[in-house]
Amino acid sequence: MKPTTPPKTYRVKSFGCQMNVYDGERMAELLAEKGITPAPEGEDADLVVLNTCHIREKAAEKVYSDIGRLVKAGKEAGREPMIAVAGCVAQAEGEEIMARAPAVSMVVGPQAYHRLPEMLDKAVAGERATDTDMPPIAKFDALPARRKIGPAAFLTVQEGCDKFCTYCVVPYTRGAEISRPFKDLVTEAQKLVEAGAREITLLGQNVSAWSGEDDKGRTTGLAGLIRVLARVDGLERIRYTTSHPADMDDDLIAAHGDTPKLMPYLHLPVQSGNDRVLKAMNRSHTAESYLRLLERFRAARPDLALSGDFIVGFPGETEAEFADTLSIVDAVGYAQAYSFKYSPRPGTPAASMDGQIARDVMDDRLQRLQSALNRDQLAFNQASVGKTCQVLVERKGKHEGQWLGKSPWLQSVWFEGDAAIGDLVEVELVESGPNSLAGVVKG
Ligand code: SAH
Ligand code: SF4
Ligand code: F3S
Repeated sequence: MKPTTPPKTYRVKSFGCQMNVYDGERMAELLAEKGITPAPEGEDADLVVLNTCHIREKAAEKVYSDIGRLVKAGKEAGREPMIAVAGCVAQAEGEEIMARAPAVSMVVGPQAYHRLPEMLDKAVAGERATDTDMPPIAKFDALPARRKIGPAAFLTVQEGCDKFCTYCVVPYTRGAEISRPFKDLVTEAQKLVEAGAREITLLGQNVSAWSGEDDKGRTTGLAGLIRVLARVDGLERIRYTTSHPADMDDDLIAAHGDTPKLMPYLHLPVQSGNDRVLKAMNRSHTAESYLRLLERFRAARPDLALSGDFIVGFPGETEAEFADTLSIVDAVGYAQAYSFKYSPRPGTPAASMDGQIARDVMDDRLQRLQSALNRDQLAFNQASVGKTCQVLVERKGKHEGQWLGKSPWLQSVWFEGDAAIGDLVEVELVESGPNSLAGVVKG
């Protein structure tokens, strides 16, 4: 590669989960420290960071086509951008990307992006660089302080996953489970609040496995961290995602009852409602143990809204086994959920299992599952009509005086009135649709 002038503007494009969103924000902060500014909307950036996801099919192909598009647009404009590939595809296929895409000057894994500034210096000098090391805590220690942030912020508390569900790439792309230290998290939460956050979502691939030592040296789990964060002045709401049913302890259940700032919402993926499939997935729960766990959460917090993830068409899944997934959906009544067609991931055990399911069967199952989930989501929203709740204002609506925010149950709520971004406004929910509700300001 030829030496180039240092980039003046950047754009970070994040795909995949909220942890990637968090990482994208942190990379932006690193670039800002180097004096590089965000490219204005609609303008080409000098440096593009593709922060990629590897969870399902075609992720890698998408990266190559994005790179191709950037190169083509750059050639037309007479100014090709510098390209960095970050995230989980970078971790899984870093060397291949370097070999296949000469336009890429940096490949950086999710645990190594604190080294982006040095890599950038090299790239400017004409040297391509790959870094897919995995020192997660070193990364956090090396990151700059948090900047201005919206009212709803993410905070990664835990990285990696040791669960090895047989379909999943995360344990390979994000490495082993590791918890960030308690005091670093309290400090970062305080900084986020100073920078404008009123709600913090604690993130981890397996967030309920977080553990650490509190300020008195006692070992504590996620519930202990939540209770301490609830004492941070100016922080009004706490959420966490994503949990695994195996790591939900009594204290976390209790926290839903005793910590008002912990929002009444739980994202707890079940994946399938059939015990044979769950076992083949290496999920350690059964349909029954999952339902019993939810009962305990609901006993602690009766208005808890539930969310989940589902996979249809796991290898060998029969029609009757899929019907068990529909049954568990009926039994739970999710407020919201994500559902996916099984996608064989290179290197995972399920990819080489017998009984891979035909595409049209998966399409049909996904459609039936999604219509059940949509039905329940609408029902949940309709049942909210008439309730009064606080809405955290996140942005302006299309019309003058219109605002969009989130209810405690993570529903999008529109209302009109006097407000500002970051306000908690008391709103009566008056009308519902499948994806949002309309509210009227009280008082
Ligand atoms: N750590 C979280 C999230 C993992 S990824 C958890 O365990 O719940 C988010 C979701 O993607 C998973 O819950 C699962 O439903 C889905 N997923 C993961 N691997 C997949 C694959 N190979 N094919 C289809 N969906 C997958
Ligand atoms: Fe993947 Fe399972 Fe870990 Fe979730 S718990 S990240 S699905 S291996
Ligand atoms: Fe995707 Fe990596 Fe998140 S594979 S879902 S970006 S952990």
